[in-house]
Amino acid sequence: MFIEGVKVEIVPLEFRNGKIRFIDVTKLPEELVYVKTDNVERLAKAIERMEIRGAPAIGVAAALGLAMVAYNSKAKTYSKLAKELYDAAERLRKTRPTAYNLFWAINRIIKKFNELKNKPLDIIKSEIVREALSMQLEDIKNNISIGKHGASLLKDGDTVLTHCNTGSLATAGYGTALGIIRYAYHVQKKKIKVIATETRPLLQGARLTAWELVREKIPATLVTDNMVGYVMSKGMVTKVIVGADRILLDGRVANKIGTYSIAVLAKHHNIPFYIAAPTSTIDPKSKEIPIEHRKPEEVKTVLGKIATAPREVEALNPAFDITPPELITAIITEKGIARPPYDKSIRKMLGLK
Ligand code: MRU
Repeated sequence: MFIEGVKVEIVPLEFRNGKIRFIDVTKLPEELVYVKTDNVERLAKAIERMEIRGAPAIGVAAALGLAMVAYNSKAKTYSKLAKELYDAAERLRKTRPTAYNLFWAINRIIKKFNELKNKPLDIIKSEIVREALSMQLEDIKNNISIGKHGASLLKDGDTVLTHCNTGSLATAGYGTALGIIRYAYHVQKKKIKVIATETRPLLQGARLTAWELVREKIPATLVTDNMVGYVMSKGMVTKVIVGADRILLDGRVANKIGTYSIAVLAKHHNIPFYIAAPTSTIDPKSKEIPIEHRKPEEVKTVLGKIATAPREVEALNPAFDITPPELITAIITEKGIARPPYDKSIRKMLGLK
């Protein structure tokens, strides 16, 4: 499909007739599997198991999940519908703690629901669905805007290193950091290349980013995470662009584990290090970021299939790390490009005092 004149090829989430259809990204790159559900517990499990992952995709999935509950509800009173929606919201909030988009999306739907209090139930239900669908479309449009703003920073001959997966599969469609790459290469026809890190332990870079890049014929090379220093020291990287799971007003950014190491290396090698994310990733209140710790088995095996360590060994598995503002050259959102000092520029971008 075309949105604002830009081709959006992969849409990982769809809402139709009270059901959500999503791409189970754990099956990629071997198989492109779509799963259909009308069950909020199944959706919550999909987020926990990372069949649906990536901050904006998680947010949109939660919004569509609440729309699904409203659409299928047999409630005859406002308070009954409220209970169904609040229970679903509570379950979805518990799925993953770090990506701010999840909480932003649930809060937006609940706020909408509260605003509709005096309307007939049918109207409330259809308005909730409408709100979730407009959030989905907004996310794609925001990604295209991020693409436009970010691509202005790229030039012919650039090699962009990216981490994890920030593409269509991690959003409602198009992507953030990968959206910039896509926009620069396909819309602006800039001659750029990509280096994608494999992203241990769940290999989102190898499985998903490489899949998207190959599919769209964008020149790309896969490296293991521990090759980043090597490729930078050899002059093979001219820019780094990664996504974000949560951005604080002071410019600290939580993103996939390994991002901080890449930022430190970029600073050492004088390579610009950019963050790309929609403003729905910016948490305007928190002072700290909760970091999700996942099962040690993810570290001790390859995707749960091959053991790579003794079963008895202890393993640490933080899913995210925090990059401090002094390592970040700029933060690219749909509203434009924020530069240091971030405590001023991010507030200005959001229209906050
Ligand atoms: O654990 P994941 O795969 O959900 O982590 C994803 C990331 O860290 C992405 O970089 C981030 O969510 C931005 S996606 C546009």
